[in-house]
Amino acid sequence: MPIRSFEQLAPRIHPTAYVDETALVIGDVEIGQDSSIWPMSVVRGDIQSIRIGARTSIQDGTIIHVTHDSRFCPGGQPTVIGNSVTVGHKVILHACTIEDFCLIGMGAIVMDKAVVQSRVTIGAGSVVPPGKVLESGFLYVGSPIRQVRPLTERELEFLEYSAQNYQRLKDRYRALTAPAEATRDPASIKPEASPVAPPVAPKPRTRRSTTQKRS
Ligand SMILES: CC(C)(COP(=O)(O)OP(=O)(O)OC[C@H]1O[C@@H](n2cnc3c(N)ncnc32)[C@H](O)[C@@H]1OP(=O)(O)O)[C@@H](O)C(=O)NCCC(=O)NCCS
Repeated sequence: MPIRSFEQLAPRIHPTAYVDETALVIGDVEIGQDSSIWPMSVVRGDIQSIRIGARTSIQDGTIIHVTHDSRFCPGGQPTVIGNSVTVGHKVILHACTIEDFCLIGMGAIVMDKAVVQSRVTIGAGSVVPPGKVLESGFLYVGSPIRQVRPLTERELEFLEYSAQNYQRLKDRYRALTAPAEATRDPASIKPEASPVAPPVAPKPRTRRSTTQKRS
């Protein structure tokens, strides 16, 4: 079951959002309108909360977690992800904040209390150290991450396009899920409409005439 409560905390998922059946969403998690959680992702809001805004995609194999309340981190630290954010494949977001219209490149790691301001692109495989603040409108790459240059107009446009693209894709997945579930009702399967080709009827055997010679 991909959506689970933890103690009294149940995920709240907007009816238009898509959670793939192989993803796992646990506890105090909110997922906003038209957002999507792709295969094998884990969103675990057990010891603090996770908030994901609208039109945000969390792509395959991504892990999102939080930090618990202790003397090392009083109050703990939630993860907050804004609207229209593209989180690439196999990203780790840990107790951090990602503002609107960001792109987090594949395999990136964003650590505790880091803040990625709006309209930032993070290169694939980058590491954002704890507490680092990435300035709005810039490209960042590397481990540890460094600011490279301002994003071009085209790259800024791409951030919006990317969010819309994943919104359209999740609608296609949602459309696939509904008829697939309908076929689980045996009454909906007509016996005469078998997808398997009917067996070929054997030809009737004719009796040899007595005048026929055996060869
Ligand atoms: C970061 C990225 C956008 C850079 O694009 P770009 O047009 O190549 O940028 P630039 O040409 O200005 O490169 C700037 C510098 O960063 C380096 N660089 C590019 N991507 C890098 C990365 N992921 N990690 C480390 N360095 C990187 C370039 O080699 C270049 O270095 P140089 O100045 O020493 O030559 C792109 O490489 C990337 O990682 N995109 C992420 C895509 C993704 O994961 N999408 C999510 C899935 S949908």
